[in-house]
Amino acid sequence: MSKLNPLHWSRKWQIIGGVGATVILVAVIVGAVEGTKSSDSTSYPDYTALNYTISERMNGTTFFDHFDYYTAADPSSGNVVYLSEEQSTYSNLTYAGSSSAILRVDDTSTGITNRNSVRITSKNQWDTGLFVFDIIHSPYGCGTWPAVWLSDPNNWPEHGEIDVIEAVEQGNKGNQMTLHTSKGCTMKTKREETGTVSGTNCWNSTNENEGCGVFGPKDTYGATLNENGGALYAMELRDAGIRMWWFDRDSIPSDLVASNDSSPDPSTWGTPVADFPSTDCDISSHFKNQSIIANIDLCGSWAGATSVYSTEYGCPGTCADLVKNNATAFENAYWEFGSFRVWTSF
Ligand SMILES: *[C@@H]1O[C@H](CO)[C@@H](O)[C@H](O)[C@H]1NC(C)=O
Ligand SMILES: *[C@@H]1O[C@H](CO)[C@@H](O)[C@H](O)[C@H]1NC(C)=O
Ligand SMILES: *[C@@H]1O[C@H](CO)[C@@H](O)[C@H](O)[C@H]1NC(C)=O
Ligand SMILES: *[C@@H]1O[C@H](CO)[C@@H](O)[C@H](O)[C@H]1NC(C)=O
Ligand SMILES: *[C@@H]1O[C@H](CO)[C@@H](O)[C@H](O)[C@H]1NC(C)=O
Ligand SMILES: *[C@@H]1O[C@H](CO)[C@@H](O)[C@H](O)[C@H]1NC(C)=O
Ligand SMILES: *[C@@H]1O[C@H](CO)[C@@H](O)[C@H](O)[C@H]1NC(C)=O
Repeated sequence: MSKLNPLHWSRKWQIIGGVGATVILVAVIVGAVEGTKSSDSTSYPDYTALNYTISERMNGTTFFDHFDYYTAADPSSGNVVYLSEEQSTYSNLTYAGSSSAILRVDDTSTGITNRNSVRITSKNQWDTGLFVFDIIHSPYGCGTWPAVWLSDPNNWPEHGEIDVIEAVEQGNKGNQMTLHTSKGCTMKTKREETGTVSGTNCWNSTNENEGCGVFGPKDTYGATLNENGGALYAMELRDAGIRMWWFDRDSIPSDLVASNDSSPDPSTWGTPVADFPSTDCDISSHFKNQSIIANIDLCGSWAGATSVYSTEYGCPGTCADLVKNNATAFENAYWEFGSFRVWTSF
């Protein structure tokens, strides 16, 4: 689900809303036409290992120095106010210690329409690279819509959006990994991945900007993930394609342990959880100048939709009322990051 365009509705929401027949009919026709254009279903890109060197390490007490704080209105119409660096630090919504960094939602105030939260954007941008996110705690709970993702906010969707970690509400259905692009990027070809596909057209103007998504197993997000001590998420962005891996705390490859920045080799990590090959999507033209973004939205066009909030997840009352009246509902709405690291291969 894109976090940059206020107009997106999930396809599921539309179907529940009663206009599903039209959507399905259009999807079938578009699908048939797109299908005839697909390339040979057996072709597959060359993912031969690249030689990576460390480009940036974000950890410890200087973690937030690598980011700008986004303070404009929420593009996804959520019930949040994104605080500045000064305000976030003062109210301790962002806090960087020697071993981890916290980014959280206000869980003490009541009687407010929009709850204080934080959205940070990395100062550096990358066209390609290997991005590794050490997540100790993932935010979850009714009304929440957290994400760790990459995009070029000034050039969306032309420069693409890569959602690496994203979930809503209790976050108990598995991590959702999604691409959003301009026209001409589909995933209807051979893929090598363990996750479950939820959409194959990445173009923002199809399926109400649902994007092309892949779900990981249930324990890749939320309370279960946190009880297991969190996990490492790796995302490789290169001309051949975009791939993502997920490693629980007990099975981190030796070339990704926190003390080792030397030269990770994804070809030794096994089948990725998500694979977005370049076969029917020119990755180098659709993805450019990506900043790393981390935020916690509340309600908004995805988590606030009645069909999602109430019907799908069984959350109480309305999302807006929960944000306004129940501060303790947001006690688990925080990210704890061990580190973010980026390698490049020039
Ligand atoms: C990576 O480095 C090794 C050793 O220097 C070299 O043999 C190999 O060709 C390089 N791989 C790529 C993709 O550049
Ligand atoms: C700020 O948050 C951190 C992490 O949760 C905590 O260790 C610290 O005590 C808090 N500081 C204050 C002044 O509340
Ligand atoms: C933080 O990075 C430094 C190197 O810049 C490293 O020595 C240290 O182990 C890192 N700490 C963690 C928790 O990753
Ligand atoms: C790269 O991204 C930044 C942040 O969105 C933007 O300000 C800048 O103009 C972009 N540069 C290019 C060359 O697209
Ligand atoms: C898709 O992106 C185009 C710009 O290329 C924009 O005009 C349009 O509103 C977007 N549509 C959706 C549903 O996000
Ligand atoms: C660090 O990673 C390199 C490969 O990138 C590997 O050869 C080495 O064994 C790792 N070191 C440790 C201490 O795990
Ligand atoms: C506030 O939310 C929490 C967690 O969802 C719930 O357990 C509690 O009953 C709620 N409190 C009220 C007064 O609704």
